[in-house]
Amino acid sequence: MFTQDTINRLKSAETPFYYYDLQLLDDTLKTCRTAADQYGYHVHYALKANFNPKVLQAIQSVGFGADCVSGNEVKASIQYGFSKDKVVFAGVGKTDREINAALDLDIFCFNVESVQELLVINDLAGAKGKKANVAIRINPNVDAHTHHFITTGLEENKFGVNVWQLPDVAFTLRNCANLNLIGIHFHIGSQITDLDAFKNLCTRVNELSDWFAEQGFNIKVLNVGGGLGVNYHSPDEDNIANFAAYFKVFNDFLQVKAGQEVHFELGRALVAQCASLIASVLYVKNGKKKNFLVLDAGMTELIRPMLYQAYHQIENLSQQLITTHNSQFTNYDVVGPICESTDCFRKDVELPESVRGDLIAIRTAGAYGEVMASHYNLRDQVQSVYSE
Ligand code: LLP
Repeated sequence: MFTQDTINRLKSAETPFYYYDLQLLDDTLKTCRTAADQYGYHVHYALKANFNPKVLQAIQSVGFGADCVSGNEVKASIQYGFSKDKVVFAGVGKTDREINAALDLDIFCFNVESVQELLVINDLAGAKGKKANVAIRINPNVDAHTHHFITTGLEENKFGVNVWQLPDVAFTLRNCANLNLIGIHFHIGSQITDLDAFKNLCTRVNELSDWFAEQGFNIKVLNVGGGLGVNYHSPDEDNIANFAAYFKVFNDFLQVKAGQEVHFELGRALVAQCASLIASVLYVKNGKKKNFLVLDAGMTELIRPMLYQAYHQIENLSQQLITTHNSQFTNYDVVGPICESTDCFRKDVELPESVRGDLIAIRTAGAYGEVMASHYNLRDQVQSVYSE
């Protein structure tokens, strides 16, 4: 819920922009940290969700590690103060240049996604006279019951190695003198709201952790990935994810052997609720069949609705200030200015009757929002405004 003061402040900035509530970010991070500390769990922040400098500073200041998926994310994490022994480099397509840079920075671990990648890291580490820590990303074939575009843990997905390939992985590891297997890694998908999916993940991790122990490997890290979902429908009432319930599932169902650490890679749940995309109404187009609100933000600023049919709550902040019991409500298709028919945030959104210049908030946009912005149609870089 935006206060009158905040709305007045937002009115003075040029739209479109992302508005960050840094207090909410802080509260979210502290809630997560407290819940994780209860079980001695290690949290790595998935930078891909949002690498806005203020967000990164806030996250590193609570002591989380960094989960990176490109050489530039690895560099950014270190630049923003994440400790290099808490930096993990994942991703299905790491280039030699990226691997070499990460080796030079002595990061904590590479999450490796194929046998061939093991061989490449072994060679590159050897050439530098180094030994690289690796964790094997295993595809657990657990259905996350989330949108199929953001499901990752099924055999049909490109990520990780499949269970039937593990004997080959074990053989390769025994023959790679420059690799040190420290962990097994999993990630079943994103925006997961049914915690049972994580219970099923625990069962698979337990079996695979036993298998590696039987093979004589000392698995120090059980990395169970990220994926905890947030409430896109009630961004005010339910603005901090239930971290306590999430970690409790792992405490109840994951078998942790002596000396093992449990690592998490959370992205969305840490940052989604702390930002909204703020846009202005450029034009109101009333038709016979449809009414359109044309905003000055579109798929170039927030692509989630167009790419994943994702729901984001849409509010007219200007009318919120003056809404009375007599206010008229109208259904609008809320669209952007981009030359694509899919450039629509949502159809048939019920809003107070809106006029040119009204300020619109598209909520829960802190994760996979600003980072997925593009310059399509030669659009300007989207700006950020902060609560303090
Ligand atoms: N670890 C790995 C290996 C991942 O691939 C991801 C996200 C995460 C951790 C963090 O997951 P989270 O806690 O944020 O769910 N752009 C899509 C989401 C893509 C997620 C990619 N991987 C969206 O806007 O919904």
